[in-house]
Amino acid sequence: MLTVILKKEVEGVFVDQFYSFNSVLFPSRIMNASGPLCTWEQELNALGESASGAIVLKTTTFEPRAGNDRPKYFENEWGSINSNGLENLGYKKYCELIPKLKRFNKPVISSLSGFSLEEFTTMVGALDQAGADILEINLSCPNIAGKPQVAYDFEMSEKYLHTIRSTTEKPLWVKLPPYFETIHRQEMARILLKNEVNGVTLINSLGNALIVDPEKEQAVIKPKQGLGGVGGKYVKPVALGNVFTFSQELENKIPVIGVGGIYTGMDAFEFFLCGAQLVQIGTAYKSQGPGIFARVQGELNELLQRKNYARIEDAIGKLKVVEGEEYGFGA
Ligand code: SIN
Repeated sequence: MLTVILKKEVEGVFVDQFYSFNSVLFPSRIMNASGPLCTWEQELNALGESASGAIVLKTTTFEPRAGNDRPKYFENEWGSINSNGLENLGYKKYCELIPKLKRFNKPVISSLSGFSLEEFTTMVGALDQAGADILEINLSCPNIAGKPQVAYDFEMSEKYLHTIRSTTEKPLWVKLPPYFETIHRQEMARILLKNEVNGVTLINSLGNALIVDPEKEQAVIKPKQGLGGVGGKYVKPVALGNVFTFSQELENKIPVIGVGGIYTGMDAFEFFLCGAQLVQIGTAYKSQGPGIFARVQGELNELLQRKNYARIEDAIGKLKVVEGEEYGFGA
């Protein structure tokens, strides 16, 4: 007997145990961020077995890279600083791994960063062919000396996205750094809409920051004189501001994937209130391992129940403007 399973693919609505975004089915809205613990096959398998809503791969480059000198990662109670330097296996190896990861029945999201437009288009073509469900174009790695982040150059970003868009029909997400001016957020939103991007991941780490050990009077990581990308609690308000503004500028035409300082279900809830449709976890996943996805999901479910939300969809983008003076001290 032939069994036909019909799935209604309604964007962002939970149907038959899945959310559909860009016609890709996600078992959960909570997943790992491209960054920690997603480089090696063993780490990717652990993500497959976890409650992560997708397997997001470490950003691949054209050639394999050993990355920057160690120590290149440091974490404290407020977050992390890294200057990993895109340590990865190179796109050809990920093209071999992707078909094997499909057995986990969740989206395989391949993150990539070229050092030229040609490298981008070659990798996009190959990763598409290998079966990646979504391609996340990383325009925001702050840790390669002499290679400024493309996403801070609007003209170059537009040129890159225009060409990459014409290379594949697969959903394209773009991973962006934090922007601090409304006009920059508006300009980037215009570029994303014009080039028919399918998702925007906000934010990558806050680049070229410094954490100092005052006892030893030194920076805590070695590359680039200690300058690196900061994540975790340090960046959550910056991430929320970017998610909130971009969600509004994109008018719900492009889903926003929120990342930056999610440790708990409450943190995830804040991102959803600000308009994120999906969320990713980086720093806390690195310190707590793959069990974090089930824990954050469980905490979010409890929170929704306590607040009488039947489903997370009812809270997405519902951040209210403050009235009254309940937080006020003077001013
Ligand atoms: C790194 O590998 O240096 C971090 C990657 C990124 O921030 O995009």
